Amino acid sequence: MRAVVIEDYGTPGVFTEQTLPAPSITGTQVLIEMYAATVSSADQLVRSGAFKNGMRLQFPHVLGIEAAGVVRATGQNVSQLQVGDRVMGLSRSGGCYADFIALEEQAAVVLPPELSFQEAAALPASALTAWQALFQYGRLLSGQRILIHAGAGGVGHLAVQMAKQYGAYVIATARANNHEFVRQLGADEVIDYTTTDFAEAAGTVDIVLDMVRDTAVDADTGIGATERKNLQILRDNGRLISLVDPQIATHPVVRGIEARFAYIEPNAKDLASIIRQVHEHKLRAHIEEIFPFTVQGISAAHLLYESRKVRGKLVIVRQQE
Ligand SMILES: NC(=O)c1ccc[n+]([C@@H]2O[C@H](COP(=O)([O-])OP(=O)(O)OC[C@H]3O[C@@H](n4cnc5c(N)ncnc54)[C@H](OP(=O)(O)O)[C@@H]3O)[C@@H](O)[C@H]2O)c1
Repeated sequence: MRAVVIEDYGTPGVFTEQTLPAPSITGTQVLIEMYAATVSSADQLVRSGAFKNGMRLQFPHVLGIEAAGVVRATGQNVSQLQVGDRVMGLSRSGGCYADFIALEEQAAVVLPPELSFQEAAALPASALTAWQALFQYGRLLSGQRILIHAGAGGVGHLAVQMAKQYGAYVIATARANNHEFVRQLGADEVIDYTTTDFAEAAGTVDIVLDMVRDTAVDADTGIGATERKNLQILRDNGRLISLVDPQIATHPVVRGIEARFAYIEPNAKDLASIIRQVHEHKLRAHIEEIFPFTVQGISAAHLLYESRKVRGKLVIVRQQE
């Protein structure tokens, strides 16, 4: 099969194409023919070597954690998915920048007929992250006030829609050029974090969903400026859900605020909830740009992703033969 791989950590120009054997599947996995994949933060972090101390890669390595395509084979213990099903799914260990992907059945879900592979590929990891962060970790309730950082981003633009649909009062941060976009997704207020201190503008909130990496943290406490401000605006016993600081739960507890890092677990039930919301027109991924499944296409998509200014998602599309 054709795969776009990395043979070492590096810049967006590090990709090469190789012919590799299609992955073999275990009893609980399905083999998917990939039609669309994405660039996600995990792909960028793994590619650049940011995770290399905690996660050993074997090269050549195939990146890509989310995809959509068609089931071509099923393991002997697979009970729900069938050959020929159109599905989307995610693979924490990558593998989606290839003609074929092995996915756990639990990490994949059948698509409604109206959902294209491109739209579907933009959902599994980002929507699952938003969903589990808001409702499993955040335990968001209707009527609560939530601040969602990076409301225009891959995860943020889905989280804004979900929180609003659930009846929350949604405050998001975004640059001014994204304000109309984020309001149309359902945000009640949008704060331009480049000109306004969100801690002064947000008022008191019940929950913060944080996706902003603090560039400088206090050497003793491990706490950065964004986290300090998040704590400042949270009510007593509120919840700070971080997608970026795995150590946050070890920081000193402030005014009973529960601070947790959201570690996303793929499961078919949550993926089915996401698909239901899409089918009911309550949730939609915004695709900023589509790239071809080539070395040049994937390199260009990674380069654009690194700007950290992408609205919604970047999708990679493979020609259907
Ligand atoms: N824990 C997990 O399992 C998990 C899962 C997924 C993602 N994540 C993490 O969550 C973060 C977001 O992921 P993503 O895929 O949504 O990223 P993304 O799509 O790259 O986010 C880009 C967006 O971030 C906004 N942004 C950049 N700097 C900002 C700032 N200082 N304040 C507010 N907004 C800012 C930009 O909007 P503007 O142009 O409006 O600034 C842009 O739309 C990443 O750091 C990622 O590593 C963690």
